[in-house]
Amino acid sequence: MSQYLIKNGQVMDPHNNTNAVMDILIKNKKIIAMESSIDASDECNIIDATNCIVSPGFIDMHVHLRDPGFEHKEDIESGSKAAAAGGYTTICCMPNTNPVNDNAFTTQYICQRAKEVGLVDVCPVGAITKGLKGQDLANIGDMAKSGICAISDDGRPVMNSNVMRRAMEYSTAFALPVISHCEDLDLRGSGVMNEGANATELGLAGIPNAVEDVMIARDIELAALTGARLHIAHVSTKSGVELIQRAKEKGLSVTAEVTPHHLILTDEATTDYDPNTKVNPPLRTEADRLALIQALAEGVIDIIATDHAPHSILDKEMGFQEAAFGLIGMETMLPIMLSLVDEQKLTMMRVIEALTLGPATILGNDPIGRLAVGQYANICVFNPNTMKTIRSELFHSKSKNTPFDGWQVKGQVCHTFFQGKHTYSY
Ligand code: DOR
Repeated sequence: MSQYLIKNGQVMDPHNNTNAVMDILIKNKKIIAMESSIDASDECNIIDATNCIVSPGFIDMHVHLRDPGFEHKEDIESGSKAAAAGGYTTICCMPNTNPVNDNAFTTQYICQRAKEVGLVDVCPVGAITKGLKGQDLANIGDMAKSGICAISDDGRPVMNSNVMRRAMEYSTAFALPVISHCEDLDLRGSGVMNEGANATELGLAGIPNAVEDVMIARDIELAALTGARLHIAHVSTKSGVELIQRAKEKGLSVTAEVTPHHLILTDEATTDYDPNTKVNPPLRTEADRLALIQALAEGVIDIIATDHAPHSILDKEMGFQEAAFGLIGMETMLPIMLSLVDEQKLTMMRVIEALTLGPATILGNDPIGRLAVGQYANICVFNPNTMKTIRSELFHSKSKNTPFDGWQVKGQVCHTFFQGKHTYSY
């Protein structure tokens, strides 16, 4: 097994508030020393991290790997490569596959395939209901035994409040978080972008904030009733943030995530009908965007998750009304987030926390999300100052549906280590 010495990097770890130049020695999958200066032995591979930040490997609680069933868009191997290139060492994959991950066999397939690929820890999210149909509860107990980390009907929200109540009650027996994609499908109707002046101008059907807010409010009430651990996926509205803040003030077990695209883009981005700006929930207004940034800065929103949603050209290259919802995010997350650090809207430490300690805590997975002697070496080394142009043709993901293609950005993942294995090098 190779040994690595990461030298002269600015080690930043929110878990113990480390922020200092240090060397990190990796051997037999683990971190075996972290000191201000470590001498290299002959068998060491030296990684020069001068001018770089060395952080725990990132954790993405919300990705779509499309495997099994839609491997033309992504599979576990291509998704794992995209994750490693984005600095990730743990990702949670959503169950809207074919077959749906609503059973132990599919969960086991995902875990086994991810282990064979061996680039990142893939934690499957099990479906709440069979076939994501919103009616009968999936076999949550069996999936829990097989390794799911949470339950969600992401993309197909559970509209029946009684079914959601039962799912939340059941989740407590397995200490699983319930991830809720908050969307009232009837209220959304045929909406495809944020309701407002831009949608009217483009002649596109709108999605008001209330589509999200009524379901956030419902699920907070159900979490209060059942004692479940509720995690709100991809919050996009200012009013949703206010609901989450109030729930937290009441001491409820409610956490939330925000995507880089909702933090950086608004519905203004859709002025040219770019299908890569069609996402669910939709890009909102500047007031919403600023509220999301503030909520992330203050911890009302706990974490950053990409909602990496690969789609083929065929799924996207049609009229905006018909195109699939979703955009990919793992390989662009870091520079997008660093632009907000550059604008001093977020601190570097807070961004790292929202990508490491934050999700590790929600997942109840203590050993990940931090750097410590004796822990698995899950590490991201990135240079926050490298200038580059985002080029989707260079992505490791099979899909290229990004609204950021051609953007001039700052920030490059240089190395990723997953359990001591060098999984990505720039
Ligand atoms: O835009 C989205 N795409 N939002 C979702 O909730 C689902 C996702 C997908 O699966 O494509």
